[in-house]
Amino acid sequence: MDLIVLYFRGMNEWLNDFELNGWAELRNFLTTEISKGLLLEMDELQSNVEFQQASIGKNDSKQVNLSQRGDFISWIDPKNPLPWASQYLKELEQVMSMLNRHFYLGLRDYECHYAHYPVGSFYKRHIDRHAQGSARRVSSVFYLNSNWEESAGGELVIYDGKSEPSRIMPELGTLVLFLSEMEHEVLQTLRNRKSITGWMLTETIL
Ligand code: OGA
Ligand code: MN
Repeated sequence: MDLIVLYFRGMNEWLNDFELNGWAELRNFLTTEISKGLLLEMDELQSNVEFQQASIGKNDSKQVNLSQRGDFISWIDPKNPLPWASQYLKELEQVMSMLNRHFYLGLRDYECHYAHYPVGSFYKRHIDRHAQGSARRVSSVFYLNSNWEESAGGELVIYDGKSEPSRIMPELGTLVLFLSEMEHEVLQTLRNRKSITGWMLTETIL
């Protein structure tokens, strides 16, 4: 095999992973500068506006349930994002079109929020695709935590059918993508854990 083919293989390794397993981990997806910029923006936002306690379910059955999840969130308005968030949205746009080109997923829109898991919080095993006709097809999580260590817990666990489910550390710069119908959970975190969580949708948001 010639070098150029190997090069492209390496570049798109995550697409192979995604095809094979339904999920992929992209370490150092963005530069440290952008990742740290995103973290600063999030911290600043959080000191000015109160993040909402995240809920589960949809519409009438929507409720806060601390035995299920304990994170606090703030939605990013795609029409009015902060400067680094705007950069982030552009990058995710690229990822979305690559997924469309390779897998014909029909992804048409993207929604995302900042998420803060305070010390002691978690999100029990669940799927992101709501029962009644959810447009969520691919979930994305971009992590904002420098020097994460295993002893801090807070790993994302993906139940991908392997004998041992896969674990991902929420390290600064890592992007994880997975099919929204796959079961996953966030283990209890012993450190503040921050991220941008989002969903690629098969319908456009009004
Ligand atoms: C979610 C979720 C995973 C993570 O918000 O639905 O599963 O690693 N997040 O934060
Ligand atoms: Mn989830």
